Amino acid sequence: MTVPVIVDCDPGHDDVFALWLAAGRPELDLLAVTTVGGNVSLEHTSRNARIALSVAGVTGVPVAAGAPGPLARELSTAEWIHGENGLGGPELPDPDAGPSPVRLDPRTATELIADTLAAASEPVAIIATGPITNVAVLLRERPDLAPRIREVVWMGGSTDRGNATPYAEFNAWVDPEALDLVLRSGVRFTMVGLNVTHRALVTASVRERLAAIGNRTARFGDELLEFFCRTNDEVFGMPDGPLHDPVAVAVLADPDSVTVARTRLDVELVGSETVGATSVDLDGMLGREANAFVAVGIDVDRFWAGVEAAVAGLA
Ligand code: BDR
Ligand code: CA
Repeated sequence: MTVPVIVDCDPGHDDVFALWLAAGRPELDLLAVTTVGGNVSLEHTSRNARIALSVAGVTGVPVAAGAPGPLARELSTAEWIHGENGLGGPELPDPDAGPSPVRLDPRTATELIADTLAAASEPVAIIATGPITNVAVLLRERPDLAPRIREVVWMGGSTDRGNATPYAEFNAWVDPEALDLVLRSGVRFTMVGLNVTHRALVTASVRERLAAIGNRTARFGDELLEFFCRTNDEVFGMPDGPLHDPVAVAVLADPDSVTVARTRLDVELVGSETVGATSVDLDGMLGREANAFVAVGIDVDRFWAGVEAAVAGLA
């Protein structure tokens, strides 16, 4: 049985691998891709999502652009990790040309998600790998569609420390109001945070195995990883860069590869130093009702085997 999914993303190097995992695994049926301003501007993330699909030979999946920035704040971007265009490293092809062109759908992200949810024969999962603005806008504008969302799996947050500020992870920090809105919506929600994605490391042996696949997707991916590992080394002292976003896809593609706990999850909206920090009450100290699943473990070898299999099956 395949899980129908929409990927909402802000590519970004790791978002590209999330798209490839979603498109390449037989357990998932990728119905649509939507983009949000995050790692870089919406203009770049929308083009980069199309490049990711085009390089991998994935045509026929609509791609629509969504929110250029957060619900209530200025957009903060992450060029220092992803480069000026969001996909530093390889020479970027024109997604409108080449053997597998992928054009931008004229609908907004919200319209595309709404149409996809309404047309599907069963509830559809949304995998969000950027600031969760588009999902929040959808739930605000079309609350009637909430029952059509099977669940939201989001890469972001952390059970411990952050990477944008000492306590806030980037996606949560960029748009905490959106995260708060989605958490309050009652839609089934899984957070995949830095506490697990920092174990999905692009080691030398991971790079060797991916490069050995040798297809167009793997070659492009290797150039992405070269850049991504260099910037993660420069910024965080992590030469084996953590490939965050595909871990959220793995939760649905291979549920046995990621362990989750049912718990209370909240996000800080105000605070002099803590805006965007996720409060994950794993020990039940607050006595509040659980409202989310939070990833707490990952089978790293199994995760990478899934990524490799997906890349091997693409162009
Ligand atoms: C998250 O922030 C972005 O830079 C990555 O694409 C990932 O979604 C990690 O904190
Ligand atoms: Ca991302």
